[in-house]
Amino acid sequence: MDYSKEAILINTQKKLVNHLPRIGADKVKDEILAGLRDFPKYISPKFFYNEEGSELFEQITKLEEYYPTRIEKKLIATISDNIPLDFYNLNIIELGSGDSSKISLLLNQIPEYVLPTITYFPVDISQSAIEKSEKLIAEKFSTIHIHGIVADFIHQLNLIPKTEKRLFCFFGSTIGNLTIDEVKKFMTALGSEMQKGDGLLLGLDMIKDIAVLERAYNDSEQVTANFNKNILNVVNNLTGSNFNTRDFEHLAFYNQEKRRIEMHLKAKTDMVITFNSDTEAIFIKKGECIHTENSHKFNIDSIENISVWADFHTEIIVVDKNEWFCLVYYKKNK
Ligand SMILES: C[S@@+](CC[C@H](N)C(=O)[O-])C[C@H]1O[C@@H](n2cnc3c(N)ncnc32)[C@H](O)[C@@H]1O
Repeated sequence: MDYSKEAILINTQKKLVNHLPRIGADKVKDEILAGLRDFPKYISPKFFYNEEGSELFEQITKLEEYYPTRIEKKLIATISDNIPLDFYNLNIIELGSGDSSKISLLLNQIPEYVLPTITYFPVDISQSAIEKSEKLIAEKFSTIHIHGIVADFIHQLNLIPKTEKRLFCFFGSTIGNLTIDEVKKFMTALGSEMQKGDGLLLGLDMIKDIAVLERAYNDSEQVTANFNKNILNVVNNLTGSNFNTRDFEHLAFYNQEKRRIEMHLKAKTDMVITFNSDTEAIFIKKGECIHTENSHKFNIDSIENISVWADFHTEIIVVDKNEWFCLVYYKKNK
């Protein structure tokens, strides 16, 4: 996650641009400090994803307890049976693309002769994730064009190229990490970036049995716990703070009223956190929690609300037999 160095890579098949320096390291530090000085304390989940965080998330997706990736991949692998997508000359923009393994499943369904007409734009805050996935996609699909974009999709949606004929993909129920207000703002912004006929494929994790939900975020191998704690390493790197991951305990539970899994880091001891330069220290008491993630769960009503904010209409909803996860295909009205 590099807010200070421009990165530009160009070869015949692959490009990569890092837009994060436009936000700037100072603004990011201020954003983190504001959360740590608030009550209750919070850190935005976008700060999970340095190189280690992206690797840990990839491991989470392979855990037996973590059902969302398994089910969503099955739905994507059969997308062309359910959704009439016209792939010719398509620009595929994947927000929060991560390891891009899901887009691979979509690209597998495109006839070989159409692939050279496709441009794939992975958009992610994690440069290491974009670099790794560009390499994998280029090896697997040697004829498509790949333009990686390192950017924050909350603040920098406007930097996504305004090409013709675009299919946006937003998988992994990543939209569930946003608060309701953020979803509203994000969908309004996305709706105004999109043009008539553009489509959005959105993956949503559905409300289900609490035990199933809580198991998915409390795995027996502690990978999710390590992923949660790693956010403090990212904060140390971006603010010069002295958090020690060993001083915190991972907490993940379902908040029924807010229909979301919440992840927190609970302090095991009193501590003083200092920062670089002349930033005032903060005090954390034993037992105090830092809220690191929400993962909202959805139902049919939420699918319709989302469409209204972005001026979309819902074309198709594809759901697994247990109705645990769904893929929604929206189209922009005008
Ligand atoms: C929950 S993971 C999902 C990854 C992948 N789409 C999947 O379904 O497996 C969220 C992804 O979004 C990226 N991300 C989170 N917040 C972001 C932001 N504000 N801007 C850009 N990317 C972000 C992370 O780096 C990560 O790759």
